[in-house]
Amino acid sequence: MVAGAASTGGAEVVLHRVSKRYGKVIAVSDIDLHISPGEFVLVSGRSGSGKSTLLNLIGGLETPDTGEVLLDGAQVWRGRHLPEHRRTLVGFVFQHHLLLPVLSARANVEVPLIGAGVGRRERAQRALELLEEVSLSDRAEHRPDQLSGGERQRVAVARALVNEPRLLLADEPTGALDTATAERLLNLLAGIRERHRTTVIMVSYDPLVGKRADRTLQMIDGRLGAAARSGDGAGTAPATSRVRSERPTTTA
Ligand SMILES: Nc1ncnc2c1ncn2[C@@H]1O[C@H](COP(=O)(O)OP(=O)(O)O)[C@@H](O)[C@H]1O
Ligand SMILES: [Mg+2]
Repeated sequence: MVAGAASTGGAEVVLHRVSKRYGKVIAVSDIDLHISPGEFVLVSGRSGSGKSTLLNLIGGLETPDTGEVLLDGAQVWRGRHLPEHRRTLVGFVFQHHLLLPVLSARANVEVPLIGAGVGRRERAQRALELLEEVSLSDRAEHRPDQLSGGERQRVAVARALVNEPRLLLADEPTGALDTATAERLLNLLAGIRERHRTTVIMVSYDPLVGKRADRTLQMIDGRLGAAARSGDGAGTAPATSRVRSERPTTTA
């Protein structure tokens, strides 16, 4: 169950020379990266610099053109097939929650468990546990249109965590939220991360995230710039804008 995730800890993420292009646009260019189990990594950089593509490659939503992505030493893609283990290894939270509008909060949280073959009663029980973890027990039977933006995003977090993933990928999860709601969501994620020792890779412009992350990675035109420990101002390095404007290979 949920508590069991603590014993497994977070996943290790390794990228070897990973590239991805869309037509003429090189979205991700020759990236090498190592993220240790349990690390909280912030990915920052301008719009169009390749942050979402990087996350999608790590999570197996996109195939790399070259190079390999390894989660706990195993390739995310084998040929064109996603191995079964990937489904339970990775949880995703997007900027827009992407909840199914006709389903209740509880049923939305259950969706990943259906794919994993979990029976109906256990699904409901696990979904309710997760909703409790994000303080939404009393909204379990509400549909997304009956929830606030922050509540919907918390449902999305619960859904991302219901499979007890060892890697949580979050792409601007607070981007559509006001400051106070964003802070609540980040507190929630920090608590979950601490309890389950989940590896977290998050794309965000939120300065609060930069303060909390173990490390900040700067994406510049599909490449990784200087990585630095958080708290030393790396997340706002002004040199980024100059480098980027000299190399206009991507569109925002
Ligand atoms: N599915 C796609 N088809 C074509 N171009 C894409 C696609 N996804 C991303 N791109 C392009 O790749 C570049 C990087 O995009 P993205 O990873 O979304 O950047 P970011 O998340 O940093 O804003 C951009 O120039 C974008 O237009
Ligand atoms: Mg993006």
